[in-house]
Amino acid sequence: MDLKQEILRLKKEKNAVILTHCYQDVEIDDVSDYVGDSLYLSRVAAKTDAKIIVFAGVYFMAQSAKLLSPNKKVLLPNINSGCLMSDMIDVDNLRQFKSKHPNTPVVCYVNSTAEVKAECDICCTSSNAIEIVKSLNAKQVLFVPDTYLGKWVETKLPDIEVITFNGFCPTHLRIRTTDIEEARREYPEALILAHPECHTEISKLADFVGSTKEIMDFAVKSDKKQFVIATELGVVQRLNRDSKLNNWGKEFILINQNITCPNMKQNTLEDIYNVLLNETNEITIPEEVRKKAVSSIEKMLKVGN
Ligand code: 13P
Ligand code: SF4
Repeated sequence: MDLKQEILRLKKEKNAVILTHCYQDVEIDDVSDYVGDSLYLSRVAAKTDAKIIVFAGVYFMAQSAKLLSPNKKVLLPNINSGCLMSDMIDVDNLRQFKSKHPNTPVVCYVNSTAEVKAECDICCTSSNAIEIVKSLNAKQVLFVPDTYLGKWVETKLPDIEVITFNGFCPTHLRIRTTDIEEARREYPEALILAHPECHTEISKLADFVGSTKEIMDFAVKSDKKQFVIATELGVVQRLNRDSKLNNWGKEFILINQNITCPNMKQNTLEDIYNVLLNETNEITIPEEVRKKAVSSIEKMLKVGN
């Protein structure tokens, strides 16, 4: 059986779309309708009129699609594909954190569960975190769960104090300052592009810091030819593929060969085929949680739309 052909056939038969995060295995792109970062995919999920959304990403991403499209069937290819950062905060931790800083607005990175989103004022992704924090017009803002993204935002908005929860991404924290030093020695002509989930020291040393999409856009527009990428392997693979296809003559190097997100990589073509065929691994969210959580995502989508 040709798995890719079968997926394409089932997609048509069932009026389904496949949304794929750019940290997924690159071969999943061959069956996907949309590939991108979490903000882009949330916008697509809110607008699609397909009956089924297969979300090739991690659990919170599929949950966000369900929040925005409650009448659609949202399927996660591998139900164990969670985000370690999003699991670092639950409602109890969040309430404790909020109780220490009463009357302070709470910004919630989209890498969080629906229950956590339901207790926050507004969501953000790494693409729009600065814009969202700024939009609150507050002197002090609470930011959960990623301490490094929150602290990076603070450096960009010096008049605002960003008080962060102590969550982090284990994959991005594997990038060390010694990796940057080595990359500078080995590729002196290259620009180093980093994700804001990296440690603050890495963001300080990089030439550019941005979300996955911002990194990709920057690399495409730049007139430089070589780039060291300080985020997940999938971004590097897609950039090298596109450079070859479009004759950009650009080279993209992963900062350290260990920078893969094991959870993102759990979804396989076979899992996608199985969930499409059997309509299993459906995401469900209790309606009272959904109503509160969706408002924080909708508020986010309105800012800068
Ligand atoms: P983006 O918002 O850049 O897609 O990143 C999501 C993510 O999980 C990064 O680790
Ligand atoms: Fe979560 Fe980190 Fe994986 Fe992104 S890379 S999904 S933040 S564990």
